[in-house]
Amino acid sequence: MGKIILTGDRPTGRLHVGHYVGSLRRRVELQNTGDFEKVFIMIADAQALTDNADNPEKVRQNVVEVALDYLSVGLDPAKSTLFVQSQIPELTELTFYYMNLVTVSRLQRNPTVKSEIAMRNFETSIPVGFFCYPISQAADITAFDATTVPVGEDQEPMIEQTREIVRKFNSVYGDTLVEPEILLPDNAACLRLPGTDGKAKMSKSLGNCIYLSDDEDTVWQKIRNMFTDPNHLRVSDPGKVEGNPVFLYLDAFSRPEHFAEYLPDYASLDELKDHYRRGGLGDVKVKKFLNAVLQETLAPIRARRAQYEKDIPYVYEVLKKGSETAEEQAANTLARVKRAMKINYFEDAALIAEQAEFYKTK
Ligand code: TRP
Repeated sequence: MGKIILTGDRPTGRLHVGHYVGSLRRRVELQNTGDFEKVFIMIADAQALTDNADNPEKVRQNVVEVALDYLSVGLDPAKSTLFVQSQIPELTELTFYYMNLVTVSRLQRNPTVKSEIAMRNFETSIPVGFFCYPISQAADITAFDATTVPVGEDQEPMIEQTREIVRKFNSVYGDTLVEPEILLPDNAACLRLPGTDGKAKMSKSLGNCIYLSDDEDTVWQKIRNMFTDPNHLRVSDPGKVEGNPVFLYLDAFSRPEHFAEYLPDYASLDELKDHYRRGGLGDVKVKKFLNAVLQETLAPIRARRAQYEKDIPYVYEVLKKGSETAEEQAANTLARVKRAMKINYFEDAALIAEQAEFYKTK
């Protein structure tokens, strides 16, 4: 059987450049390699609701934002199935059966769940649905027989939990589910792009994101105000490259040909870094270079977005068609799961005959 991709995002905000280098860019490449039999990209609205119970309108509004971001980075509905999680009821049903294969203490130990609980100040009032979302994520992945899950580093514990559920299911009910593999960005800088303020992660609530949909001027303003090395006060001062977001962004975005085009005094990023470390290179010059590189990356994305924004009914049509295709696949898997669990009573002629016989001879 061929390789199958499933991945997705929660629609709680527009997607940013951290999503782009962490996962979106890779998805488009993978979609275009032709190495994958199927590519499923899911807008995880049901998962977003697990910690947004009081804010369903935010989730609802962001479904189309994420869809626009997907289409504008180059995910192509002719090659990838783009769909909406809540429209696939089979996922909920699978989740319900998988719940029996996971313990409460295992969920409590899931590092992503742990840190999210701390971040949201849930303390003792953790919504049950939120607590169980790693199980629903296992349903998302296995419903499509996904072999490959391209995601950011923060999702590693989720994929590990999925693999455990698959192994448990297969050991109890026989070989039924496919054990997926995580596919992380190969460039370390892309694993975790910091916020423009230097904080570890881009997050909407911290206001430190550069969005794919930001206009040219907004992007430059955000870069201009970016945190750098606080001890690099004068141009002549030696500067620190490690942990400096401007250089971390260049690690993630710049390519050798960008130097010839925008900063011909330097042959490579290493040369630029060396100069910064020695002193004599100002932040503004580096920021201008980063701006040129980022604008080059974002311009085609922005242009495509503007086109799709003019045809929102088309965007919904893409999601509807994708959801139909996705449901067909999930229904096949669910039928297979129920057969394995032997809860397919009405299809099981042997069971009916055997019991009929039993009662006849009783
Ligand atoms: N948890 C992912 C996120 O927060 C979204 C997601 C839901 C997902 N189900 C998935 C990702 C299945 C990969 C596979 O971004």
